[in-house]
Amino acid sequence: MDGEREFKPRVVGFLCNWCCYGGADLCGVSRFQYPPYIRVIRVMCSGRVDPAFVLRAFANGVDGVFVGGCHINDCHYNTEGNYDAFGMVGIVKKLLEQIGLDPERLRLEWVSAGEGIRFAEVMNDFSAKLKKMGPMGKSEGVAEDVLKRRLDAAMKMIPYIKLAERERLHSNQRTEEAYAKFYASEEFDTLFKKLITDKLEISQMIALLREKPRTTGELAELLGLTPSEIARHANISARQGLCRFDESKNLVAAAYYENDDQRTGAQTDTVRAAALDNEKIEAIIAKYEGKPGALIHVLMEIQSENHWLPKEILNAISDRLNVPLSRVMQVASFYKTFSLTPKGRHRIHVCSGTSCHLRGADELLNSVQELVGVKAGEVDADARFSLETGCCLGSCTLGPEMIVDGEHHGRLSSDRVEEVLKNYA
Ligand code: FES
Ligand code: FES
Repeated sequence: MDGEREFKPRVVGFLCNWCCYGGADLCGVSRFQYPPYIRVIRVMCSGRVDPAFVLRAFANGVDGVFVGGCHINDCHYNTEGNYDAFGMVGIVKKLLEQIGLDPERLRLEWVSAGEGIRFAEVMNDFSAKLKKMGPMGKSEGVAEDVLKRRLDAAMKMIPYIKLAERERLHSNQRTEEAYAKFYASEEFDTLFKKLITDKLEISQMIALLREKPRTTGELAELLGLTPSEIARHANISARQGLCRFDESKNLVAAAYYENDDQRTGAQTDTVRAAALDNEKIEAIIAKYEGKPGALIHVLMEIQSENHWLPKEILNAISDRLNVPLSRVMQVASFYKTFSLTPKGRHRIHVCSGTSCHLRGADELLNSVQELVGVKAGEVDADARFSLETGCCLGSCTLGPEMIVDGEHHGRLSSDRVEEVLKNYA
């Protein structure tokens, strides 16, 4: 290859003060040779290396990141920081894979202060692999702006990722074998997908929406997902107040914009809640226009039509019936009939009355929760089902009982739940 054009990878190395840094020092003093690509940052312990350091290094264009610590169980701190480094690297490698980068660009090694020759060997091997991989991003076919957006989205999630690591994404056994096995296991892949992947996609989606409102098709193309996956993310984010989703136009807008006037929310207002474009709802409000005394009637009719009362609808009711918004909110939040959170397309109600309880309502509820994937009071990610429990439904001899969209399913055993729910698409 032409000497001038030869690719020289840029590498950042985080070396623990007590072992790996000593190893690197001995390597230099002993004149062991390795390519001069690495820029060393000394940290007191490999456990001090935060995922943000690694992602920021990649965001600044390095081709590889090296983390070096003491051998497992030789960490100089009681916390055994090298296990934390093990977990951090396991998770960030997976994150790099999601972002579209080769996970091998991040390398973790244990090097003691007496292993100068080993440090040189590791550096030679890592440099050779990085040279083979080529420049970060370009070699993986990820455009610079896309990579920047993905890394930004991942960096925003770091506090959450650390929490997920502490609570779920680690091995319960502190041995090198157990850690290696856990981060290579299917269990880790499944947990990562469940806890991180969706959130990373949502974080990228919101970043795109903060530039301007977009359609689900546009977002799907930009993020390499299907429109239905985008619709699912938009539904979840809308429920959390991160965006507005007009399902009738498949249009999504962020809750606020980078360059928008924060006071007027001009761009956000271009996407109206779908309920505001519903002719039946418009007719209900028009029927009672200027009649403050009809507040409860309007709320009940809209609740029965839309299954929940979005903020935009409550504002419209307040304006057009001439009732202060505080009064509308007071009524809407007082009665259990009204819901201020979205409901699924199908509403499941599991009776928790005494008779049903004695006949196995708890077991029935557990099966429903397991099948639908949500707890009572929640809506599933696809907004297909919302689950509620409540007191006696007045048909105790049929217990345990479940009602779906007003249809009673009595004497329902747990093993029949799936069969019943299959009928509600
Ligand atoms: S002190 Fe070296 S890894 Fe903790
Ligand atoms: S206790 Fe469930 S219907 Fe009466």
